[in-house]
Amino acid sequence: MNFNIEIIRNDFPILNQKVNGKPLVYLDNAATTQKPVQVINRIKQYYEIENSNVHRGVHKLSQIATEKYEQARKYISGFINAKSENEIIFTKGTTDSINILASTFADFVNERDEILVSEMEHHSNLVPWQQLCKKKNANLKVIPVLENGEIDLVGLPSLITPKTKLLAIAHVSNVLGTINPIKEIVKLAHNKNVPVLVDGAQAIAHLPADVQVLDCDFYAFSGHKAYGPMGAGVLYGKEEWLNKLPPYQFGGEMVDSVSFEETIFNVLPYKYEAGTPNVAGALGIEAALKYIESNTIDAIQAYEDDLLEYATSELKKINGIRIVGEAKNKTAVLSCIVEGIHPYDIGTLLDQMGVAVRTGHHCAQPLIDSFGLPGTLRASLAMYNNKEDINAFVSATQKAVNMLK
Ligand code: ALA
Repeated sequence: MNFNIEIIRNDFPILNQKVNGKPLVYLDNAATTQKPVQVINRIKQYYEIENSNVHRGVHKLSQIATEKYEQARKYISGFINAKSENEIIFTKGTTDSINILASTFADFVNERDEILVSEMEHHSNLVPWQQLCKKKNANLKVIPVLENGEIDLVGLPSLITPKTKLLAIAHVSNVLGTINPIKEIVKLAHNKNVPVLVDGAQAIAHLPADVQVLDCDFYAFSGHKAYGPMGAGVLYGKEEWLNKLPPYQFGGEMVDSVSFEETIFNVLPYKYEAGTPNVAGALGIEAALKYIESNTIDAIQAYEDDLLEYATSELKKINGIRIVGEAKNKTAVLSCIVEGIHPYDIGTLLDQMGVAVRTGHHCAQPLIDSFGLPGTLRASLAMYNNKEDINAFVSATQKAVNMLK
């Protein structure tokens, strides 16, 4: 096993600092992860010696930048086991990826058609579909979430009807940590000829995301939740789908030839990449995924599973605490509430003690509403967290609870 927590922690310079006079305990990784020096240096190197516009120049630097950009695409396609790099579209992030799909998929949705989402979706995998349904007079249907945070798989088949045009679902819930059984869900949907989009934002850094094994039609993720830069992400789509869908934006690299009368669009993947792309972002994602690979995703998952188990049992020792989301299959996300105390008040006190967590509805308001909660206190872990972080979080939470009760 390559996994060495001391070496890993040393790769993340930001962890080695004080916040509010206390050593930083960073547990807001579902919002964004910190970046290792390998990613920071890769981006620095690009701007120091490689920066140029891609696919445009005859000059050497442009050729180098183009080569590196396309190598990044190829590496990322291998990381998620896409059949071809033509299936990797660079975007601004998961939200952008899903919006691109919702916008281009509009051609396939008619009045009274249905789009199926789950009750645990992040707003980014809900609002684009809701708005598309409104525009097309179609219906948004919702797969319920059970009390323990798992999807209602038993009820799912009856929700997929001849009118269902797409099923959009999170690989991992950003609030509950639930890992959804995507393979099984895709099978159910494909049996009825319904394509599936998977929101992989919370999965890509924590568990294997093999798009051929999952057999999903689309997979979206962000660089910044997987140790990479903000403002850069990926939309994976099966080639047959990406060829069928219309282009999203016009201009720049997405054209083959243009006259005043008409435009011939470029082939995949360029058809979806209008304008100068975020080259440094793509290289940053590549470096981040290489960093994950160097530690191996299986070792990361095993390490985070152990840490989650430890954190869950320690947290449960606090009087009046309730974990929200206890699915059998979970990633290292710990949402909780303490009876009679608003999560925001605990989060504010934790911050004063150097512990960074997130509070609120976590951009999944309908899910939080369905649980009848004002929000949750959420600690979300990454590969660089350790037992000391958990101990600091639990003892700070206990202190905050004592102060607020
Ligand atoms: N989606 C991010 C989160 O869950 C921002 O915090």
